[in-house]
Amino acid sequence: MPKHVAIIMDGNGRWAKAKGMMRIKGHQAGAGTVKKIVKTAREMGISVLTLYAFSTENWKRPASEVSGLMSLLKSYLKSELESMLGNDIQLRCIGQQENLPKEVLSVLRKSIEETASNSGMILNLALSYGGRDEILRAARKMAQLCVEGKLQPKQITEDILASRLYTAGLPDPDLLIRTGGESRLSNFLLWQVSYSEIYFTNIKWPDFSKDDFFTAIRYFQKRQRRFGQTGEQVVVTN
Ligand code: FPP
Repeated sequence: MPKHVAIIMDGNGRWAKAKGMMRIKGHQAGAGTVKKIVKTAREMGISVLTLYAFSTENWKRPASEVSGLMSLLKSYLKSELESMLGNDIQLRCIGQQENLPKEVLSVLRKSIEETASNSGMILNLALSYGGRDEILRAARKMAQLCVEGKLQPKQITEDILASRLYTAGLPDPDLLIRTGGESRLSNFLLWQVSYSEIYFTNIKWPDFSKDDFFTAIRYFQKRQRRFGQTGEQVVVTN
């Protein structure tokens, strides 16, 4: 079983368009899939589920879509708090929290605080998140420490850099799923996915079912993870 699953939830807009509906209807249907997949991941014993809900680039979408997504997020957080508490789910957020509208931020912070001692699964929402921005911020912080004489450039290791990312303390994703038919990373967890297995599916996020999730997990379970070693070495060490 993968410990950490990350998902790029793509295809909401095209799903709605194909049905002759407004794009926001696709996002609303997508929020339903989020509830279903969070529940399934928790039941399966996955430790960390990271969902790409809003990227740093998504701010460039039409204002009506951005505000629709923000209010959807707010109502999701409000309606799901009880279920997170009941199912021992700890909510976390990665991304530029400071850029979120105040009313989203306050319900987000409340949910993070109230679920902080839960340990069944971490639900990690990527909000106003960009992989390059995350690495850039880490580089700036480390540069500042060097200027202050608290860190030497030669002391900077992969672990030190990783400890400055939003995901500090979390394992890297074992499996990255992207729905919606595109085969790209779209600025998601660029540092962290270096050895993740990647599963692309044409299914659009609103249609992504529990069975589709199981299919992705089975794909992962059939991979031989070599982390740069040879197949023979991995068989011997395992
Ligand atoms: C990408 O599809 C999806 C998003 C930018 C937003 C994802 C949001 C949700 C799934 C719902 C709200 C989230 C939570 C956590 C409740 P797209 O709009 O780019 O689709 P397209 O490529 O078909 O246009």
